[in-house]
Amino acid sequence: MKKILTDASLLTHNTFGMDVHAAVLAEYDTLTDLRELLHDPTIRQLMQTQREKGDLPFWHIGSGSNLLFEGDYPGVVLHSTAQGIRIVPLPESETGSANECLLEVDAGTPWDEVCAYCARHELYGPENLSLIPGETGAAAVQNIGAYGIEISQLIHQVVCYDIETDSEHIFTASDMAYGYRESRLKHRPDKDRFVVTLVRLMVQRHGQLHLEYTGIKRALGISEGQLDAQTKDLKPDDIRQAVIRIRQGKLPDPAELGNAGSFFKNPIVPNSVFAPLFEQYPEMPHYVVDSDHTKIPAGWLIEQCGWKGRSLGRAGVYERQSLVLVNRGGATPDEIVRLCRTIVADVEARFGIRIEPEVNIISGK
Ligand code: EPU
Repeated sequence: MKKILTDASLLTHNTFGMDVHAAVLAEYDTLTDLRELLHDPTIRQLMQTQREKGDLPFWHIGSGSNLLFEGDYPGVVLHSTAQGIRIVPLPESETGSANECLLEVDAGTPWDEVCAYCARHELYGPENLSLIPGETGAAAVQNIGAYGIEISQLIHQVVCYDIETDSEHIFTASDMAYGYRESRLKHRPDKDRFVVTLVRLMVQRHGQLHLEYTGIKRALGISEGQLDAQTKDLKPDDIRQAVIRIRQGKLPDPAELGNAGSFFKNPIVPNSVFAPLFEQYPEMPHYVVDSDHTKIPAGWLIEQCGWKGRSLGRAGVYERQSLVLVNRGGATPDEIVRLCRTIVADVEARFGIRIEPEVNIISGK
């Protein structure tokens, strides 16, 4: 199945609820359909025009849960509607451990369906990443993370269609150059060239649960001490349910209040920047990244600047988590961008740290 819509509304394709249009919205569910779309004369022409302007030839979206269109998009928006989760045999070279289980997931599959599938089949791995919005292809590009886990730790391979060579290209996890909310497919030149079609994840039949995040222990009613006794009977679904409760308590449901999850990344700063700040603000939460760097929660920095719960026009900062910008109803992209810039400037003026958006801001030029 493939579908080409011109001057298409993206209202139902972005969780911020922005009523913007794309010159073309093209949806497909098989590789054959994708290849046909990319050979369509209108689409080819638009891609060429975008390239000549120095822009990306297309923008591939998942469920639009991590992006903000700055205005109408003059190019081609691609979207995969391929969905499916399969357990597949391990490659010959990797049959070492009977504990490992290889899952193959179509790029358009909602990520949380993968988490639900694993919890149902008692497979260990993605439970801490439950209820993160978005589709699996985008999750692998974005390196989603929460409660001590990143998807990169589960990735076996990311299978792509290479537009340049008209062939399949397989990236292993180490090829992907993963970092905190980072991968090579987020950037040019790879972003111009590769479309994720499948994600292969390695999960475990008997695994280790990740309970380091105090919020998870709290949600499960686990107290300090005798951790083994309290946790020995826990299954992935117990963690999944705890994570769902935590997220529902802290993060707004996009169906009710437009948002794209964390709007900013947590800044990672050299210790030469962190140390004097920590002296000044000993209550500042922080996480050691390596011997030279520390990560500071942007939500804390924003709250300290007095932004928690405040609004600028119809764009606001969520009451329960300052890292989340929300559309209070009818906000335009400009209003969200203005709020973003004001917050960045305030945080920089007060702390000397320049926070960066985590959300992809797509220029409408
Ligand atoms: N904090 C504040 N004020 C706020 C928000 C947070 O003081 O308004 C403080 C909290 O008290 C806590 C610290 O900041 O000490 C961290 O807060 P939280 O655990 O809520 O996590 P986060 O760092 O704000 C990150 C991810 C989330 C993920 C959570 C849990 C990023 C950009 N965000 O948020 O991911 O769910 O950790 O692991 O790394 C997302 O990417 O969309 C997302 C929601």
